[in-house]
Amino acid sequence: MKIFLDTANLDELKKAAAWGVVDGVTTNPSLIAKEGIKIEEQIARICDIIDGDISAEVISTTAKEMVEEGRKLAKIHKNVVVKVPLIRDGIQACSELSKEGIRLNVTLCFSPAQALLAAKAGAYIVSPFVGRLDDIAQLGMELIESITTIYGNYGYTTQVLAASLRSPLHVAQAAEVGADIGTLPFKVLDQMFNHPLTDKGLEIFLKDYAKAFETSK
Ligand code: E4P
Repeated sequence: MKIFLDTANLDELKKAAAWGVVDGVTTNPSLIAKEGIKIEEQIARICDIIDGDISAEVISTTAKEMVEEGRKLAKIHKNVVVKVPLIRDGIQACSELSKEGIRLNVTLCFSPAQALLAAKAGAYIVSPFVGRLDDIAQLGMELIESITTIYGNYGYTTQVLAASLRSPLHVAQAAEVGADIGTLPFKVLDQMFNHPLTDKGLEIFLKDYAKAFETSK
């Protein structure tokens, strides 16, 4: 499973890039707003840090405007994937832009039926939100499983990106049910390293080694 970082923060991206485990980035209008820099500029900076798919989301709500905005976003860098919401106009914009060779991430997907529409509209990526479904007491991971089954049944090439992942457990479960991509906040990526037995084991190895060579002097 590819790991994307769900952030527009450059410091977080630089730190994670150094670990060599980040395959791409997703952003949304809220994440861009948090950084206080206009989308065109911030996306260009992100593209300089991470060499992979970088999702940049439109803020228009009509198909016509989304198509125009999408074309502009796609021109920022060859790695930009244009993100559109899963509404009627978003699906229309996806159909039109995908025919022009622009890659689309259809976001805010909360049902298998919606995911089917995204695939039929030629989406490069669909983003079902796991955490936000869990928040309303629905099993978000079941949606990922259902979409991977449907896409598998018909050979749709749209990649399933498990979004709104809130914990290392979510990441592991998304990988288990066959998500192509998981996008996670920096905090969750950092938490994925942690295991008390790793820390304890390393402490013992280093202590044993130091003891052996101190006594042999
Ligand atoms: C996906 O692309 C979204 O930006 C993101 O995963 C949403 O996560 P949240 O529900 O934690 O805000």
